[in-house]
Amino acid sequence: MTKPFLVLGIESSCDDTSAAVLGDGTRLLSNIVSSQEALHAPFGGVVPELASRQHIRNIGPVVSEALQVAGINLSDLDLVAVTRGPGLIGSLLVGLNYAKALAYALRIPLVGVNHLEGHFHSPFLEYPTIEYPLLCLIVSGGHSSLYHSLQAGHYRLLAGTRDDAAGESFDKVAKMLGLPYPGGPVIDRLAREYAGAGIPFNLPKISDGSLDFSFSGLKTAALQAMQREGIAPVGKTGEISEPVRALVKGFQAAVIRQLLHRVESFARQLAPRSVIMGGGVSCNSELRRQSRELMAELGIACYFPSPPLTTDNAAMIAYTGYKLHRLGRTTPLDANADTNLALGEEFS
Ligand code: KG4
Ligand code: ZN
Repeated sequence: MTKPFLVLGIESSCDDTSAAVLGDGTRLLSNIVSSQEALHAPFGGVVPELASRQHIRNIGPVVSEALQVAGINLSDLDLVAVTRGPGLIGSLLVGLNYAKALAYALRIPLVGVNHLEGHFHSPFLEYPTIEYPLLCLIVSGGHSSLYHSLQAGHYRLLAGTRDDAAGESFDKVAKMLGLPYPGGPVIDRLAREYAGAGIPFNLPKISDGSLDFSFSGLKTAALQAMQREGIAPVGKTGEISEPVRALVKGFQAAVIRQLLHRVESFARQLAPRSVIMGGGVSCNSELRRQSRELMAELGIACYFPSPPLTTDNAAMIAYTGYKLHRLGRTTPLDANADTNLALGEEFS
């Protein structure tokens, strides 16, 4: 039996340290994620300096575990793929420098990967037959971006983040209401449990007619609703009142309405074969339900990665690195991290 081509993926762009081993671009042999959620929870958001220090502690053990679970040694590796941007500079540098040192010591090539291209590819790990052309919505703590792609490697940004990213707005509204960090999963659960329609929110309008996403208006609307209706944040007892539940239900509905409004209008205009989603917010159960319903109505296939591949992970970086390497791309060992690395051309 010939030895598989083994890629080690490393991801450290924000607050998760992750390493994965992928065989022949198709077989995921391990995908280890060390979450820093508990470290940042008291602050209600990611603290960049704490994140980079924690990555330094985590990176060695996480890579060792990824190799061990995959049942391989360092010397078996053929390629190192690492997130080069976008993300937090201190966090990116930990993964990038670790990957460079490994590639140098093992005398194997390095491929720097765009984190967004990783999210874009994550559904392909489980559904390799997804058909192009497609629309891809990436919604996370740092991004709300909608891409159109005609074929592998082509990306056109249709709508980007105007202010707060979708996940950031979940986290900020949760913080305002005294709910734990990260806010997305908690709001998802509370909204699911609440039977009523929730407090109504109006969709924000961007005055220049742009289709970019804007969520900071919804955060302000949530604050105004708290003041108007006299809604107190969750106190020390942790008991969650009915008005808090009604508020998060209405807020989540408004976020989903905005996301799917953009997806629907571009889907009708561009008639893709598939719609795919990635990033932490795409774990949202109501977003998944409504997306599936809408795409069934439009006759478009719709794919979501399973939760471990939806949030930040190194499997998607290994997969993307493998694809880029097959196209002949490698990254020199003096390459730097790029906090604002963009993906694809802009829509005009
Ligand atoms: O992709 P991710 O793990 O990291 C970033 O690249 O940001 O996304 C984290 C974000 C957080 O803002 C979190 O609140 C949100 O994803 N999130 C959710 C859900 N699960 C995680 N938002 C809504 N519903 C969820 N079920
Ligand atoms: Zn991400």
